[in-house]
Amino acid sequence: MDDMSGVNRRVIQWFPGHMTKTLRMMEKEIRNVDCVLQILDARIPLSSLNPEIERITGGKPHLYVLNKSDLADPEITKQWLEYFKAADAGCIAMDARQKKSANAIKKPIIAELSALLERRRNRGMAGARTRVMVVGIPNVGKSTFINSFAGEARAKAANKPGVTRGKQWIAVDDFDLLDMPGVLWKKFDTLETATNLAFIGSIRDDILDIEELACGLLSSVRGIYPQRLLERYKLDADALELAPYDLLLAIGAKRGMLVSGGEVDSERAARMLVGEFRASKWGRISLERPPQMAREEDDDGLEED
Ligand code: G4P
Repeated sequence: MDDMSGVNRRVIQWFPGHMTKTLRMMEKEIRNVDCVLQILDARIPLSSLNPEIERITGGKPHLYVLNKSDLADPEITKQWLEYFKAADAGCIAMDARQKKSANAIKKPIIAELSALLERRRNRGMAGARTRVMVVGIPNVGKSTFINSFAGEARAKAANKPGVTRGKQWIAVDDFDLLDMPGVLWKKFDTLETATNLAFIGSIRDDILDIEELACGLLSSVRGIYPQRLLERYKLDADALELAPYDLLLAIGAKRGMLVSGGEVDSERAARMLVGEFRASKWGRISLERPPQMAREEDDDGLEED
């Protein structure tokens, strides 16, 4: 894990083009909607929160969705919901593959827009449709949410971040959803943000080094869920003291991933590890904790202003 900063360089090489176009389209369309539904990944709510989307959509009522909450640690998701609530931001957890979960979004949208809807009623425009822009980073589950919400396969779900799509309007009951293509931003603030986005598959794997990725994931997860790794890969506790690359090799060896000469096939082991993490084989994992709550824990529960 020496040089994940390469992620930033490589992203800059492929970011311009369709993602720049998407941001421009968002800037143009924002005036045509009543509110914004920003879909985040429940495992990394802050890393998946796109500052460019925030900048463009900041003036509109906003609802955050912690999607893939079925993959995240339920206790931590609860803390994130409190965190957003404390910041006075509407937020709901979701498993977009479940129709019921996707439909549960209607109530908070209506609550978020209560003042606007009231004004419309008073002006005799009670039947006006509610226009919602659906935004988020690639692979966060926008298409899946829209499919569940609309009840048919309207938006094609594909596990390929960065696949170009145009905007489209989808009418469901009293709602018109504006489905925007997934978009990242040019320069990540921290290495942690870049690596988190890579772990969950929002940055195209073909521009990443799979061994760097696996080592990054191991170093992150062994700090927060060490037991999961020990159990899954039948390791002794002292394996956690190994450098990430040596831990990768130890896991590859346990799985019998050897090449001729008896050496571990590190690339194969790395692919297996990243694949198993993404397939939730390590259990429900949250890679980020709410910042303030993390501080409170450090301060032995002392409240911050
Ligand atoms: P996008 O439009 O934002 O790019 O994302 P998309 O809906 O294409 O979803 C990307 C992948 O994430 C899909 O998996 C989808 O099924 C999965 N997904 C979306 N929402 C959730 C969720 O709430 N929980 C879980 N566990 N997975 C979710 P895929 O591997 O491409 O395909 P599939 O075989 O699952 O259909």
